[in-house]
Amino acid sequence: MEAHAVNPWVAVAYLIAGICFILALRGLSSPATSRRGNRYGMAGMAIAVVTTLVTHVPTVTAIGTDYKVHIDGWRFLEIFAAIAIGAVIGLTTARKIQMTAMPQLVAAFHSLVGLAAVLVGVAAFYNPAAFGILEAGGLDILKGSRIEMGLGVAIGAITFSGSVIAFAKLNGNMSGAPILLPARHSINLAALLAIIVLVSLFHGDTPHLFWGIVALSFVIGFLLIIPIGGADMPVVVSMLNSYSGWAAAAMGFTLHNTAMIVTGALVGSSGAILSYIMCRAMNRSFISVIAGGFGAENAAGGGEGREQRPWKRGSAEDAAFLMQEAENVIIIPGYGMAVAQAQHVLREMADLLKKHGVNVKYAIHPVAGRMPGHMNVLLAEASVPYDEVFELEDINGEFAQCDVAFIIGANDVVNPAARTDKSSPIYGMPVFDVEKAKTIFFVKRSMGGVGYAGVDNDVFYMDQTMMLLADAKKMVEDINKALAD
Ligand code: TAP
Repeated sequence: MEAHAVNPWVAVAYLIAGICFILALRGLSSPATSRRGNRYGMAGMAIAVVTTLVTHVPTVTAIGTDYKVHIDGWRFLEIFAAIAIGAVIGLTTARKIQMTAMPQLVAAFHSLVGLAAVLVGVAAFYNPAAFGILEAGGLDILKGSRIEMGLGVAIGAITFSGSVIAFAKLNGNMSGAPILLPARHSINLAALLAIIVLVSLFHGDTPHLFWGIVALSFVIGFLLIIPIGGADMPVVVSMLNSYSGWAAAAMGFTLHNTAMIVTGALVGSSGAILSYIMCRAMNRSFISVIAGGFGAENAAGGGEGREQRPWKRGSAEDAAFLMQEAENVIIIPGYGMAVAQAQHVLREMADLLKKHGVNVKYAIHPVAGRMPGHMNVLLAEASVPYDEVFELEDINGEFAQCDVAFIIGANDVVNPAARTDKSSPIYGMPVFDVEKAKTIFFVKRSMGGVGYAGVDNDVFYMDQTMMLLADAKKMVEDINKALAD
């Protein structure tokens, strides 16, 4: 039987890789340390990949009490070719991708992790000996790995099909609105129970049961994500991130690979924590989102039928004049700022206002933009000082004392319907109390444009609101000119 080289340094190397991943997560928890976090992550992954190659590519064959080590050059070549192809695709995609398309890219990457778990599971099922998980002298897959393999392919398949649907919704290939099948909860429950039964029954001689797990899991991934829509998509993306980690961890148990177990568990648990934080930010129940759109009935269909109401148009000069006279200005950036790439001119505007003695703060909603931390990343890129950036719960109490709320490309996160309109798809989501500010400037391109949730916003029509209709970058450049004059 083929055995893998056993080397105590492997355990040490995997331990170091695991520590690097923990430091990476720690670093990524703040914009100030995120670059360092990324470097730790890359170093950890490099250590894990090199260790795996060094341990698994040479095969060690036992001949009596002796061992013969053999290195298969073709195998090395195949692996390096695969790594090179993946690296080229990854690099080109990362260079080309717009920040605004990050959520769909992340969803696409999660789908690949899920698919990889399924493919590794299939390979290990048909050729367990190649993975060193064949019971000595037996024909069955090692008993201890069977359940993990079943769970790994099931979670992997759910992650794959779920992420494909999330990608299609975020990329606009299919409607972002919830699709609610009748009796979907009963169907999901029945499919889940069937998967559990199949996982407990399948073994090396039952490929039909194995493929049954894969097929049912693909279907359930699809069914879990189609009923989720609108404002719940951020939670779904981080939840699928978590699933992809658990799929990898389960495959790590199947293949007895510590690095995969550790990495998978870290991704799985950090994704679960992020989903929980996002649920709290959106005032959604974690269980409801995981179970696939529980409560979506209440949220679907809000906000249709926009009526014509009077509103006031402002100019760059109005905004410059009122803001330089103000004591406190709170800037609320959103998705439109990212689209316009207005973060640099926005920081210049804040600098000019500070020269006029104005106290400027930035208010960041946890789901502003299209991915967690979207606004923080953009503001950090524009060198906005971290101590001027505040989270929702830390700044929401300050709108009552603020002279100007400057909303730039945000919409849903300042929509009071989230507090008042039970039929709104964003009902229940905490939002900024911008309407308490003395003056509101609302930068967007047109009165017809809506936010992600597709609903009208009462703030447009308030007495103290002036609409600044233009591309965000162009508008702020004009304000800066007026401030500099
Ligand atoms: P949104 O509600 O999406 O509103 C974006 C606003 O930007 C719109 O009013 C749009 O109006 C304006 N806009 C677009 N391009 C612009 C440009 N070039 N210049 C000026 N304005 C522009 O943004 P938000 O307040 O940041 O809310 C985020 C929403 O996305 C939430 O509903 C959230 O649930 C959802 N979501 C978030 C995430 C994460 S994790 N953050 C992921 C998926 C979905 P015009 O078209 O009229 O310009």
